[in-house]
Amino acid sequence: MSYENILTETQGKVGVIRLNRPKALNALNDQLMTELGEALLAFDADEALGCIVITGSEKAFAAGADITVMAGYNYMDVFKGEFITRNWETIRRVRKPVIAAVAGYALGGGCELAMMCDFIIAADTAKFGQPEVKLGIVPGAGGTQRLPRAVSKAKAMDLCLTGRMMDAQEAERAGLVSRVVAADKLMDEALAAAITIADMSQPVVAMIKDSVNRAYESTLSEGIKYERAMFYSCFATEDQTEGMKAFMEKRPPNFKNQ
Ligand code: HXC
Repeated sequence: MSYENILTETQGKVGVIRLNRPKALNALNDQLMTELGEALLAFDADEALGCIVITGSEKAFAAGADITVMAGYNYMDVFKGEFITRNWETIRRVRKPVIAAVAGYALGGGCELAMMCDFIIAADTAKFGQPEVKLGIVPGAGGTQRLPRAVSKAKAMDLCLTGRMMDAQEAERAGLVSRVVAADKLMDEALAAAITIADMSQPVVAMIKDSVNRAYESTLSEGIKYERAMFYSCFATEDQTEGMKAFMEKRPPNFKNQ
């Protein structure tokens, strides 16, 4: 499949999607988001793959929604057209883990897109922010909702109200990113994490993703109940038998995704 705004490739069991509008620092428009959604669903449906990485360029993961497009919009354009959000939730529908590998700017919708992923690995050049306030708008795809859940009310308020950027170190301290790596090692690290995940039992990986996401959608006791049901159901899989047998036999497991 060839796209105009993204590049896709597979590396072993990993699907890689690179946002590719370099002249606009990967600013997000409807076409890019449609292509991203299609690529994600295609990778998700590919049984040979176990994990997906979304990345951008050295300079920008994505510098937000395309301001040149939004500048001409009125309420009805945005409301009826669901500007860039029509298939925003696709990443959540994807059962395979999605890692954001972020270098450079992840601003506005770019930061929100990274937060939609299951976790973020940041290059030491990464800069995160929700600068919408400076454009006279509020964040529209999770900046005021996912950011406070990922960091804290204080940090989210600070970023959303002042529009300032935070660097990779601050983002790691705040809990937005899982690790910070040297910029020239970003893809190596992201791919290594993705390969590790892809070599696990895929049904179990999907259950873990689902269960962690539940933590944000339910009460603690409901979430624990959900997790417990998932835990019990693992014992109906061949991979549980294999994983524990391999441990006892002091060898690596050979999961069959069954
Ligand atoms: C359209 C953009 C863009 C954007 C950068 N460009 N960000 N075009 N939409 N969001 C374009 C610039 O116009 C410029 O094009 C080229 O990319 C390079 O950008 P420069 O500004 O020249 O680069 P630099 O000086 O290095 O500054 C980088 C930057 C700055 C700090 C990231 O570009 C910037 O502040 N961008 C806007 C960030 C922002 O406000 N994002 C939030 C958008 S609102 P030319 O043609 O001049 O070379 C949003 C809402 C989401 O995301 C809503 C979801 C529903």
